[in-house]
Amino acid sequence: MEHQLRRETPLVEMQGVSKRFPGVLANQNVDLVLFPGEIHALLGENGAGKSTLMNILAGLYHPDEGTIRWRGKGVELDSPRAAFEVGIGMVHQHFMLVQPLTVAENVTLGLNDGRMILDLEAVAERIQLLGRRYKLRVDPNRPVWQLSVGEQQRVEILKLLYRDVELLILDEPTAVLTPQEAEELGETLRQMTAEGKAVVLITHKLDEVMRFSDRVTVLRDGRVASVVETSQTTKAELAHEMVGREVLFRLEREEVQTGSLILSLRNVHALNKKGLPALQGVSLDIRRGEILGIAGVAGNGQQSLAEVITGLRTVSEGQIWVGATEVTNQPPLTAIEAGVSYIPADRMGTGAVGTLSVADNLMMKSYRRPPLSNGQLLSFDAIRGYARYLMESFRIAAPSPETPVRLLSGGNLQKVILARELDAEHSLLIAAYPSRGLDVGATEMVRRHLLAQRRAGKAILLISEELDELLTLSDRIAVLYEGRIMGIFPAAEANIETLGLMMAGEAIGNQIDSLVKSNQQN
Ligand SMILES: Nc1ncnc2c1ncn2[C@@H]1O[C@H](COP(=O)(O)OP(=O)(O)O)[C@@H](O)[C@H]1O
Ligand SMILES: [Mg+2]
Repeated sequence: MEHQLRRETPLVEMQGVSKRFPGVLANQNVDLVLFPGEIHALLGENGAGKSTLMNILAGLYHPDEGTIRWRGKGVELDSPRAAFEVGIGMVHQHFMLVQPLTVAENVTLGLNDGRMILDLEAVAERIQLLGRRYKLRVDPNRPVWQLSVGEQQRVEILKLLYRDVELLILDEPTAVLTPQEAEELGETLRQMTAEGKAVVLITHKLDEVMRFSDRVTVLRDGRVASVVETSQTTKAELAHEMVGREVLFRLEREEVQTGSLILSLRNVHALNKKGLPALQGVSLDIRRGEILGIAGVAGNGQQSLAEVITGLRTVSEGQIWVGATEVTNQPPLTAIEAGVSYIPADRMGTGAVGTLSVADNLMMKSYRRPPLSNGQLLSFDAIRGYARYLMESFRIAAPSPETPVRLLSGGNLQKVILARELDAEHSLLIAAYPSRGLDVGATEMVRRHLLAQRRAGKAILLISEELDELLTLSDRIAVLYEGRIMGIFPAAEANIETLGLMMAGEAIGNQIDSLVKSNQQN
């Protein structure tokens, strides 16, 4: 691959690219070379400058300094249209499709310049052709709102292939996919590079980088930390380049004796915000010293599951107990007093109040008890001391306890929530996507805390879309699909393929049997 790549003219040469935002240097003197036929992974912690750099290449941002060459010639990419015209297209983290329109209409949106009427049948035919060639299965005549997230992503890619792009940029594409869909996307990308197109894959999943990419550029603090051939590097080395220190992938997961039953759900039904069924007969149990992982593509009832237990959502049928307390349709305070701690998916909103200080956010759960309060009066010295203690033990990087939390980075905000919820008295911890969007260093910290909780005899409900995370941390895994549990099985016996199929809604018979059995045993 190496000599082959080197002999060809580069497709893209970015040279000395810098981009400033008020108060941040997002990209600093970045050089990036892309060759035809390569999958180039762009790796880096949150805020390292990956999206900014690619937005420059896609014509959305204008660099403050630096030059861009396309096939050896200098180009000005001052709009997404200008980027399209040279052959560069980007699929953003948030899709930009028009929901009521069909796939074919979305694909051709903006192509009709008014001089001719598009023949939608011919368009549909071409989409089908491209779909077959690149393994992007989707019905051209379906409206986009009917499609799954994975299918919508295929439409975004088809839109770019329809325009004959030669460089496809994907910003964290697999974050929303099942393992099978991620695998299929890998095949699509390989087909594209086999035809000489180039792909930039932004991700922070090191496994994907190792499996799919030819070369890797690691960004750290807006600068290039390293550029390597994938075959010449390792996950540990890449993680080190990303965070600038050693990262341990092996977490100690000791044998822990499980104890009494802490959480019990029986045949729980609930509706979501839109009044549609969100949970349809969920039953599960978690004991002391046990982590139950909930696997599933986001949006299959995970949010409602956390909310019914914490008293934030009404149950229409069924019962929920935390220890000896029935919390079904009780206010959140009942759940808190029964021993529930909650790390919500929605950090700035449910998890923390942005305008309040670090100290205020930290004491939100503990202010009622001594020494912070004598029942009537708050002791401000004690509060300040308590905040300092938590900031130190959780290594929260903030200028002072008085800093408003909205000014903290994602990782530090999550530490504030963790510190508050773990320090509060609790027997059950609900952790929803606790490492979502966090970089490797912060992710490692979160996972260590979850294992420490298990060791301390807490019951833990872990909701995650990272199978790796679920498999490393959980004792048992339940798969949630459209508000139903498709199966519960010991994590040690879990097989990624089966998990993926279940996440996509396939009922796997014998696993359902084992669910029934394990529930009967409890
Ligand atoms: N439109 C913007 N306005 C202001 N700051 C921004 C903007 N986009 C990104 N940034 C900042 O630039 C830095 C790099 O961000 P980004 O490129 O999104 O990183 P990554 O994609 O690697 O997570 C961050 O500090 C981020 O807060
Ligand atoms: Mg980004």
